[in-house]
Formats: sequence, C-alpha cells, structure tokens
Amino acid sequence: MNTQTEAFLTEKNLANNNADWAEVGKSHPHESAVLHVLGEARYTDDIPEVQGTLHAALGLSSKAHANILSMNFDAVKSARGVVAVYTAKDIPGTNDCGPIIHDDPILSEGLVEYVGQPIFIVVADTHDNARRAVRKAEITYEELPAILTPQEARQAQSFVLPPMRLQRGDAQAAFERSPRRVKGELYVGGQEQFYLEGQISYAIPKEDRGMLVLCSTQHPSEMQHVVAHALGVHSHNIVVECRRMGGGFGGKESQSALWAAAAAISAAQLKRPVKLRADRDDDMMVTGKRHCFYYDYEVGYDDEGRIIAARVEMVSRAGYSADLSAPVATRAVCHFDNTYYLGDVDIRAMCGKTNTQSNTAFRGFGGPQGAIAIEYIVDNIARDLNKDALEIRKINFYGRNDAEGRNITQYGQKVVDNVIHELVAELETSSEYQQRRADIKAFNISSPVLKKGLALTPVKFGIAFNVTHLNQAGALVHIYTDGSVLVNHGGCEMGQGVNTKVCQVVAHELGLNLDKVRATATDTSKVANTSATAASTGADLNGKAAQNAAHTLRQRLAEFAAKTYGGEQADIRFAAGLVSVNGLDIPFEALVQKAYLARVQLWSDGFYATPGLHWDPKTMSGNPFSYYAYGASVSEVIVDTLTGEWKLLRADALYDAGNSLNPAIDIGQVEGAFIQGMGWLTTEELWWNKGGKLMTHAPSTYKIPAISDCPEDFRVSLFKNRNVQDSIHRSKAVGEPPLLLPFSVFFAIRDAIASVADYRYNPPLNAPATSEAILSAINGVEAMAASSSQEK
Ligand code: MTE
Ligand code: HPA
Ligand code: MOS
Repeated sequence: MNTQTEAFLTEKNLANNNADWAEVGKSHPHESAVLHVLGEARYTDDIPEVQGTLHAALGLSSKAHANILSMNFDAVKSARGVVAVYTAKDIPGTNDCGPIIHDDPILSEGLVEYVGQPIFIVVADTHDNARRAVRKAEITYEELPAILTPQEARQAQSFVLPPMRLQRGDAQAAFERSPRRVKGELYVGGQEQFYLEGQISYAIPKEDRGMLVLCSTQHPSEMQHVVAHALGVHSHNIVVECRRMGGGFGGKESQSALWAAAAAISAAQLKRPVKLRADRDDDMMVTGKRHCFYYDYEVGYDDEGRIIAARVEMVSRAGYSADLSAPVATRAVCHFDNTYYLGDVDIRAMCGKTNTQSNTAFRGFGGPQGAIAIEYIVDNIARDLNKDALEIRKINFYGRNDAEGRNITQYGQKVVDNVIHELVAELETSSEYQQRRADIKAFNISSPVLKKGLALTPVKFGIAFNVTHLNQAGALVHIYTDGSVLVNHGGCEMGQGVNTKVCQVVAHELGLNLDKVRATATDTSKVANTSATAASTGADLNGKAAQNAAHTLRQRLAEFAAKTYGGEQADIRFAAGLVSVNGLDIPFEALVQKAYLARVQLWSDGFYATPGLHWDPKTMSGNPFSYYAYGASVSEVIVDTLTGEWKLLRADALYDAGNSLNPAIDIGQVEGAFIQGMGWLTTEELWWNKGGKLMTHAPSTYKIPAISDCPEDFRVSLFKNRNVQDSIHRSKAVGEPPLLLPFSVFFAIRDAIASVADYRYNPPLNAPATSEAILSAINGVEAMAASSSQEK
C-alpha cells in the first residue's frame, strides 16, 4: 500500500462504511493509457468523416496593422477543388469570438491588427487544396503604425483594458523607513502552448438549424455559445463534443472558438460537414500564447533581507484584443507574493494592446508571471547582502498561523494552510542542499570555464477560478442494469487524467472496482453551462459533482436494499463490488437488477459549487482561492561560460497534492509541468520581426524541451499532506502549480553566471535564459566587475 492510500484510509471513510476500501489514492493508469500507446485513442481528426465532408483553411493578414483596401479572390475561387470563399459579411450572426469582451472578430471587417489575423475562409474538397488556394488571394493594404512590445504599449498608454491597482498599507511610507532598497526592470518572455494536437473543429449540420461541432477544446460550453451567436441561432441548436484533446495547456480555453466558429459558419452556409484543422505554422501564427511581461519594480527591505515594502508595475503583452488578459493579469497580481509576506504594497498591472496574436491562458495563467518577479527580487536581495538566497526566502515566508502573524496576502485572503516551512525543510534535507552548495562553490573556484549553479525555489499557488462564478460543475452518473456505470461530467480530458480521477471517485463511492466505471466524451447536450477545464480545478470541481451524483445513487440503492433485506440503512456497506446488507453480501449488479425491476431511478445528476469564495475586482481584494497548493524544487546546472550552453544535472521537486487522488498521475503532472516551465524560462523564445511577423512559428525555430533536455537525475515526490479544505477526498489540484517549480532552473543558471565575478553582482538576465542571453549576462557581470575595479 502506498503512503497516499494509507493517508486516505486513516481518514476513516465512515460515510461509505468502507474504511478498508479505496479506489481513490491509488496509482491507477490513465483511463486511455493503453489506447494512447496503441495509437487507438481517437482525437478529433481521427473520427471517421461523414460522407461529403469538406475542408477549410483560413486566409491570414500579412500586415501587423492595416486597413484592407481591396480583396480579390478570383484566383482562389478557380483553384483546384475550391467550393466556397467566405468573408465577414457571410457570417449569419455575430462576428465575434471574444470570451469576455466582444472585441475579437472571427474574420476581419476591414481592419487587421496582427500578422496572422484571419480575413477569409476557403472551403475545398481536401485539406491540401484549401491550404493551397488560400495563398492565391490578392489583398492590398494601407499600413498603419504598429505597437509590438509591452514597453511600447506602456509608452503609448495603449491598453486593452483599464489598468489595475492593488494597494495595501502605505507603500510610500514603508519605503521611507526601509534601510535598503532594490530597484530594477525585468522582462520575461511568452510561451507557445505547443499542444501536440493542433486546433481543430469538425462541424456537421443536423436537421432544423442544428449543428454538431466536434472540437478539440477545454471549453465546450463557450464553443457552443460562440457558434450559436455566429450562426444567429439558440444555444439549444448547437451540440459541442470533445472526447479528448492532445493537450490544451490553456491554449484551447478560449482560442478554440475561432476554429469552431469558422467550421460551423462554413458548414451552415454549405449545409455540408466542414473540418478545419490548423497546420502547425498557421496555429502558431494565429493563436495567442502565454503573455510576456515587463516589470518595473522597487522593494524596500531590512538588513536581514526581510521585505518591508514592494512596488511593481507589470505590463503584459495582451495582443490585439482582450481575450483572457484581465483574469491573467489579476492572477499575476495575486501571485506576486508567491510564498512571501510583502508588507505594504502598491501593485499595478496593465494589459498592453499590441499588434500581435491575442495572448491567452497558458498553464499557470499569470501566476508564474507574477511569482517570478518576486523571486528575481529575492535573488537580488540575497546577492546584495552576500547571503544564500534560501536564507532570504525563508525569513520572508508567510507565517504558519495567527500567532506568528504575517499570514494575510496582499489581496486580503488569510493563508490558513501554510506548509511551505516544513516542505522546504524536507526538500533542503532530501536534496542535500547545503552540502551541494559547498561542493559547487569549491568546484567553481577550480573550474575557469564550466561553472555550476544551484537554487531552491518555493511555490504557493491559489486554487479556484479567480472569477468566482466559474467555480461550479455538474455531472451525470448512469448505472445500467448489468451493474456497469457511465459517467459524464463537465471536465475535458487533455491528458491530465481528469476522467481517471472522476471515475475513481465514482467507483469509490459505489464500492466498485475502477473497471466498472467508464467516462464518456464531454458533451454540451449532457451537462449544461459548464466552466472551462482550467485553473487546475477539473478534478476538484467535477470530482465533487460526480461524487454528489454517485452519492445520490448509493443512497437510493441503500434505501432499497434496507427495504428489501432488512437491517439498518446506515450499516449497509458498498465495497469490492458487493453490497453488504443485514448479514448478506449481494453482488452490486444483482442489487441493481432488483432495484430496476422495483422501478428505482438508476441515474442521477450531481452538482458542486466551491464554497467561501468572493472577490471585489475594484479593490482587488477578497477570498479568491479555495486553498493553496505548495511545492519547492532544487536544480543544479552546469554552464559553459564560453558558449552559453548549459545542462540541468539534477532536479529535485516536492509537491503538495494533498491526499493525492492518483499519485502516479500527479507525479506525471509534476514532471511534465516542470519540463514545460523549464522550456518557458530557458529555450522557448518567441521572436517577431520589425514588421510584426512571428518568425518562430514552427519547431524548426521554436525550441521546446526534448527528452535530452530532461535531467538524468530527476527526483519528484509528493509531500505528505491533507487539504484542510473539504476538497474532493482532501486532495489538491496539480495541473498548473508545478509549472512554477523550474524557477529553480532559471535561478541556478543565474547563480552559475554570478560565480564568474565571485557572486558580487546581480547578473542582468531576462527570461528565457537562452544561450545568447546567458552569454550576454556573463558579459554584463564581467563589465560590472571591470568597471568597479577601475573605480578602485
Ligand atoms: N496535462 C496534460 N497532459 N495536458 C494538458 O493540456 N493542461 C494543464 C494541466 N495539465 C494540461 C495538463 C492546464 S493549463 C490545466 S488548467 C490543467 O491541466 C487542467 O486540468 P485539471 O484541472 O483537470 O488538472
Ligand atoms: N484560470 C483559468 N481560466 C480562468 C481563470 C483562471 O484562474 N479565471 C478565469 N478564467
Ligand atoms: Mo489552464 S491555463 O487554466 O487551461
């Protein structure tokens, strides 16, 4: 029995009378693991095509900011296989796919605001013919000035939304009484989601204005609404279905809408099925990514390194429209503290309107961007005081309880579940941090070219959608007369294992083995008004909703069993496929058959809304999160100071998944997020040319981590904990928070760079720390050392 199962069992799951029975807390394989390996798992493009299916492609703007003067589609229309060309005027309903603010045209109406903006749709007999025909359009433009970077947007005061501000206490006064200050700028680049399966939608017309849209999306309900608006029909005419995605990572939370709408518009016009599958280059040219951030910061601190006051202005590159930039910026503001009590603060956040793709959700959703800034600052403080950064981190941690104080976040939520002290202590020991620190110092003295670096960084991440009303979910559980169980819920499977976890919860509740429970495709005609599978809440919300439905069914069956066999209803036990009632062990399916004949309803819905959440966007304060997930990691790198090449030698990560629902899946999530976050901070660089064209729009120029970039020595474990909140089986979310763990890789690289001048200067290193950026930071540090020795 593994420790997670043990932890669960000690909980005494009395409500179920099955304290010795657990289908949760076990390392079951992913429900589709075998299908994934065999290549039999069906993704949207694998679904057999309906006869008469046509294929669409999008015609894109080649200018960053321009008025369209003329469009000539003659050559497109006469190209091989072309059936139709559509522009904005062919959209029967609303030309908009913006998730919150309606500033996101599906097709341009004469103004283009980034290179890659869709202008028209070509429908042809094959995917290839549609893509070839698209290039034959003749479009003339009148070019307008373009803004490309957050710094330019800040200069021009060009924002997609009004700036946000969060103040606590009197930051100015706190600065004045601070003995020391650190001040500077930082730039952290964006990141392409790079899901393996690109954006895709397949729209199949049904009778009487109906439309079925098979879509790779994290948000079927929103796709339903966008398609209904675009077609000018009611939501009840549209069904959106998604069995699984080949990854979403936030990129299919809102931005699957364009593809769903374009396929549906074409299908509605032609009354034929239309599939729209994005080629990788088009996907990267058209869709938004993680927001890059520019920061202007100042922090006041005392002689021990304790932070007293913080001021920061963060400007994100929102792109041409709002999309999810507001909640992303809000989450950045709410994660600027990371694990630290900051004293008096003045935080501003702005969403710079730029002539680039409209940036969107990406694992962490602004959290990583908020937290890395304070980690950078803490790293600077440590070097300025000539102390180990771990020491500065520790003395700034939130207090453990009310008696210690320092436990209220800048947005007013009290931290009641702080385990960062214990978690970091455990990792510091298990990773042999202090010994390795000493070894690395010694190594660096004797090694002039190759330099090693080490860092330990902590994580605290708030769990819940920071928009309160989104924290709800629904589920349907069906028990068939053979005793098999089917679950449908609002969550979408994108590889993260939400279906496995929800099935475990249902199996557990009904005392069944997991193989008796199957999950179906997410479908807007089954559970209505679902939230996106996002904010790491998929298992939290849908697990609770499915548990609620299964609980109702168990109650009904127990009531029926007591009536039929006698005994107390409260004593009935559901475990190991048996129902134990009044001294009898009845197979679950036998009881179910009897209940059916007695006309007991054998299916139920379930619902869940996370309690205790509130948020005031005006003052940026409240209780936006249900709880916090914690973690920490230690990375050791070696850097070649002549080439800027580096290697991650060893990484240790410890993550707090509460009473993990499935330790194997959770460890997989931590490993994946770690490597993905490392890619963001090191090799993945988005580069736009002067004309605003994204030049890194394929794996040939955009470097995501490969297996060879993973550390040979990678030690991931789960921290033994139990959620203090009544979450699903006291587990904690795992999807996004571990993306912040590889901050330690970035700071280990910075540590190695600092060693070239005996750790006296703060290397001017922005993210991503590409080899080029590393070399330039080394030069920067050497220049600082040279100029200070001249002064002497
Ligand atoms: N894991 C895989 N394999 N693929 C993904 O696309 N998305 C991440 C994370 N883990 C993702 C993933 C993101 S951005 C989120 S919000 C969560 O999974 C969503 O799923 P959950 O809430 O069920 O954890
Ligand atoms: N995460 C993901 N999507 C969201 C969030 C969030 O916190 N808030 C609103 N949409
Ligand atoms: Mo995840 S960025 O919340 O889809």
